[in-house]
Amino acid sequence: MKVLSVVGARPQFVKLAPIAHEAAARGVEHVIVHTGQHYDPMLSDVFFEDLKIPAPAVHLGVGSGSHGQQTGAMLAALDDVLESQQPDWALVYGDTNSTLAGALSAVKLHIPVAHLEAGLRSFNRTMPEEINRVVTDHAADLLLAPTDVAMSHLADEGLAPRSVLVGDVMTDVLLQVRDAVAGRPPALLAELGLEPGGYSLATIHRAENTDDAGRLGAIIDALAAVDHPVVLLAHPRLVAKARDAGLALERGSVRVHAPLAYPDLVAAAVASRGVVTDSGGLQKEAFLLGVPCTTVRPQTEWVETVELGWNVLVEPGQALVAATSRPTPPDTTAAPYGDGHAAARVITALESAAPSP
Ligand code: UD1
Repeated sequence: MKVLSVVGARPQFVKLAPIAHEAAARGVEHVIVHTGQHYDPMLSDVFFEDLKIPAPAVHLGVGSGSHGQQTGAMLAALDDVLESQQPDWALVYGDTNSTLAGALSAVKLHIPVAHLEAGLRSFNRTMPEEINRVVTDHAADLLLAPTDVAMSHLADEGLAPRSVLVGDVMTDVLLQVRDAVAGRPPALLAELGLEPGGYSLATIHRAENTDDAGRLGAIIDALAAVDHPVVLLAHPRLVAKARDAGLALERGSVRVHAPLAYPDLVAAAVASRGVVTDSGGLQKEAFLLGVPCTTVRPQTEWVETVELGWNVLVEPGQALVAATSRPTPPDTTAAPYGDGHAAARVITALESAAPSP
């Protein structure tokens, strides 16, 4: 069996790691194609190095642009790669423009498509990620769902016959990295003069939060008003949009820091008193690490984190400020994101459904 993974953005490199390792262990031929959506070394190269992912066989170098430009450039380049590689499966991850391009290019070439992290829904169609997920799920031949809730969304859309519950591959990576960094104080503590448990860790990058100057200003105002230090890991999109809007990021409680490599991020989250984010992955990572999360969005795809009391959804303003000082919820034994062996189930599902030679 030959599997071709299409990846391009930071969270996809994390999800790729356990798949690449499992494919290698099981003797599956695995070709990695990097679209180039993320090109900054701290958003791309360090993930390949730290998570020991083989270098991509093909790098499309697409870079930034409008949704149409970026997705169109990926589609044109992927057509050639997929035609020459002729994999048994094109495997696409998550909900970015790289996911959509990989799925559309492969399905039009009659190459079977599997979607990892299928079935997530925010039901907010103004989010580019929501459109990418819905279109990808309906184009794909095999839907690899992380949770029971994702399976039920797929069933509601008539996609149950193509769906398999595999668990969440991010859990696979996170549990390994958490154990590897245990007892190692995060480098940023010394760098910023902070104590373990004495700061919140924040990331903000989603278009709906960064691209409206008023909303972005309200988020930064709220972070600045928190009663303890807030380490803001500034994604390039946030930096660019704040600059365009003439907004200073570092004020009040906010301490700006560059994005972190994955092990450093996990260590920094473990040592924090809470996480404030609009990332999908970090909501779940906080839950798995037993750290309270405050999500600056009206909806979440990871509803289990809210239902179990570890995540609250807030609007920028006093609700955000107050949420950063709420008490830690009681421990839970619930494991909605699987057992850390999702990648093995993904490869088994691909083998079971692969066309015979
Ligand atoms: C993308 C995904 C988002 C995911 C996020 C993870 C889409 C639609 N969005 O958002 O779902 O959560 O990745 O980070 O695919 N930029 C750089 N250097 C880079 C990459 C981007 O400076 O390496 C800047 C550019 O100004 C670019 C902007 O960030 O225009 C946005 O980048 P883009 O990849 O389009 O989307 P993200 O915001 O990263």
